[in-house]
Amino acid sequence: MATLLYIKSSIFGDGGQSSQLAAAFIEKWKAKHPQGEILVRDLITENFPHMDGTVVTALRGDAAEHSDEHRAILQRSDELVAELNKADEVVIGVPFYNFNIPSQMKSYFDLLARAGVTFSYTENGPVGLIEDKPVSLITTRGGMYRDSGMDFQIPYVKQFLGFIGLKNIEVIYAEGLAMGGVAEKSLADANAQIAAIH
Ligand SMILES: Cc1cc2nc3c(=O)[nH]c(=O)nc-3n(C[C@H](O)[C@H](O)[C@H](O)COP(=O)(O)O)c2cc1C
Repeated sequence: MATLLYIKSSIFGDGGQSSQLAAAFIEKWKAKHPQGEILVRDLITENFPHMDGTVVTALRGDAAEHSDEHRAILQRSDELVAELNKADEVVIGVPFYNFNIPSQMKSYFDLLARAGVTFSYTENGPVGLIEDKPVSLITTRGGMYRDSGMDFQIPYVKQFLGFIGLKNIEVIYAEGLAMGGVAEKSLADANAQIAAIH
């Protein structure tokens, strides 16, 4: 049975533009995988801790010295890694807020970055330990940044995912959503790209 992991991160929930495009993606995926399983991880409602002294001790410290709080954080991280490993395919809604990803997504990435679990360093450099699989990144933006030299978001997300092993990435850009005369075509193009994926 195929498994799709849907990672959502719009502060507007299912009403967000990225969530609506992801919903279209999921409809197509379901039609192709009627028996498939869909795992949903809503980064906004998770309330992940920010990276701080407690989180870094939980993820990198000596387990023998862990408190209950450290163990709870580590368990949460283990669950996130396990679902990423379980998925055959991943779709990620990535809204553009103040020139970058939602801060909740940064906390999510911080919980995924685990030496010996999601990446390791070898004499040839870093190696990702998550088995590669198709990842669709749906980015929604009020303005236009693609290939402008000012897109600090998608290059960063691709760098992070590639670092843990996910390199098979297709990006769906829906840009100019706050720009009259641009938004409609941009959404139509994004929907057409999504329709062509499955
Ligand atoms: C808090 C906030 C910050 C934003 N910052 C930017 C920005 O820096 N550049 C931009 O082009 N659009 C910006 N936008 C517009 C969003 O990128 C746009 O509304 C997009 O559709 C958000 O995706 P979502 O609807 O899935 O949440 C911002 C919107 C919000 C709510």
